[in-house]
Amino acid sequence: MPNPMLTIAVRAARAAGNLISRNLGQGTFAVEEKAKNDLVTDIDKECERTVASILLKAYRDHSILGEENQVQGNKDSEYKWIIDPIDGTTNFVKGIPHSSVSIALQHKGITTVGVVYDPIANELFTAARGEGAYMNGHRIRVSSLQSLDSAIVCTAFPVRYRERMNDYLPLFAKLINNCADVRRTGCASLDLCYTACGRFDAYLEQGLKPWDFSAGELIVREAGGVATDFMGTPNFTRTGNIVVGNPYLVQALLNKVCDPQNLAGTLR
Ligand code: IPD
Ligand code: CA
Ligand code: CA
Repeated sequence: MPNPMLTIAVRAARAAGNLISRNLGQGTFAVEEKAKNDLVTDIDKECERTVASILLKAYRDHSILGEENQVQGNKDSEYKWIIDPIDGTTNFVKGIPHSSVSIALQHKGITTVGVVYDPIANELFTAARGEGAYMNGHRIRVSSLQSLDSAIVCTAFPVRYRERMNDYLPLFAKLINNCADVRRTGCASLDLCYTACGRFDAYLEQGLKPWDFSAGELIVREAGGVATDFMGTPNFTRTGNIVVGNPYLVQALLNKVCDPQNLAGTLR
């Protein structure tokens, strides 16, 4: 039986995805810098309003947490939709075809539905709690690799928190020394989904926000992966410091790269 909330989330993600693909590379939208290295365009706001209006049309009593704060819904609801209307805004602004719409639903704080849609590649990643993870309707699984030295690991750099760079760079050096190669794509939700389907063997990033990781983290777990913070605890939901992959690779990353005993302050 199709999950009705997942069906609505997919409809909303596709509608916003159409806006992204129609506007990509057109250069006709306004761009603002919300904070240093943190962009927002008119299209981000329009995507968020589009997603929220489809969700609220179906579930008018639910609450909405959107990155661009366009719509709030009923703040007292047990159901909260978490939306990143364009994840990968910098890619979108530069005309780099790698962005997504990310939508998660939490019920009493537990993520129950996750949808990440890449409108350029037309790849739809979905999961409902306990029901597995899918890409375009086909079941996906995390990589089965057990050793870090042949792993392709995705990461990112703390460009919005330059003061964290000195803490991060030693970790990055250990990452390069311990795995086969690294990637940085500029779209955290797709980094999570690429890990869920085994394109990346693992992924770690610090300082993510709930709209960046909520949908993708459920998709990774439903694909057989695990998610922890850099200390090996579930605290990533608070800090946004996240490590994902199959259990062997996450353990190897914690042991050889994160080194929880000696982890620098901002990475804890
Ligand atoms: C960003 C992207 C990027 C990640 C940043 C996010 P935005 O989201 O996901 O890959 O490194 O941490 O904030 O601003 O494009 O929605
Ligand atoms: Ca984002
Ligand atoms: Ca965004």
